[in-house]
Amino acid sequence: MLNARHTKLSLAGSLLVAAALTGGGAIMTSHAADSKFILADFMNNVVMSSADVLWQSVSFDIGPDDKEIYSGPSTDAEWDAMRKAMQALADGGAQLQKLPAGWLVQDPALKYETPPGDLEPDAVAALIGKEAAAWSAHAEVLRAAAAQALKATETRDLKTLSDVSDSLDQICESCHLQFWYPGQAQAGI
Ligand code: HEC
Repeated sequence: MLNARHTKLSLAGSLLVAAALTGGGAIMTSHAADSKFILADFMNNVVMSSADVLWQSVSFDIGPDDKEIYSGPSTDAEWDAMRKAMQALADGGAQLQKLPAGWLVQDPALKYETPPGDLEPDAVAALIGKEAAAWSAHAEVLRAAAAQALKATETRDLKTLSDVSDSLDQICESCHLQFWYPGQAQAGI
């Protein structure tokens, strides 16, 4: 909330001051138009970090009487954090469907070394361009799963959250197998 308010202030003319006051978040928002979209950063900072909120929080067990026992957020603050994370993940899925012009897989300044088995950044970018429909379909599956989890936060439905948490592994992995390390799919690893 704070950030949004400061961003409006900055549009009114005190961009640098507002950015300095509110830190990195505001700087990113204010310069959204000319900042690069870097897929690896987005994966770490948006997709992974919000999925992790679900993975870390919700768990499922079978009780002594074969009853399913779900645990997860309990306080209002924890539910609020879950709701925000699932909203961010759903928005992230939607954003991945239409990558902005000029986006990059990796930040070239990082001089990233590609681990064996992974595609080079240029090859990832080329593959996404070539298989755009499949890319968009994977991103839509992610968006839809997160939207289902988001809805489940409204009724505090732990079973649905747990089901989405389980299915997410596969959703992430199937896109990674096609676009990040397709050699593994062929080798059947
Ligand atoms: C639409 C396809 C797609 C989906 C869905 C997807 N990813 Fe990714 N992800 C990629 C691609 C492509 C890369 C490789 C980028 C690169 O070369 O670093 C990647 C890389 C990553 C990385 C490594 C980033 C780095 O530092 O190099 C992480 C972490 C990650 N994804 C997490 C996830 C998680 C968690 C999910 C599911 C909740 C997920 N991804 C869903 C396409 C996807």
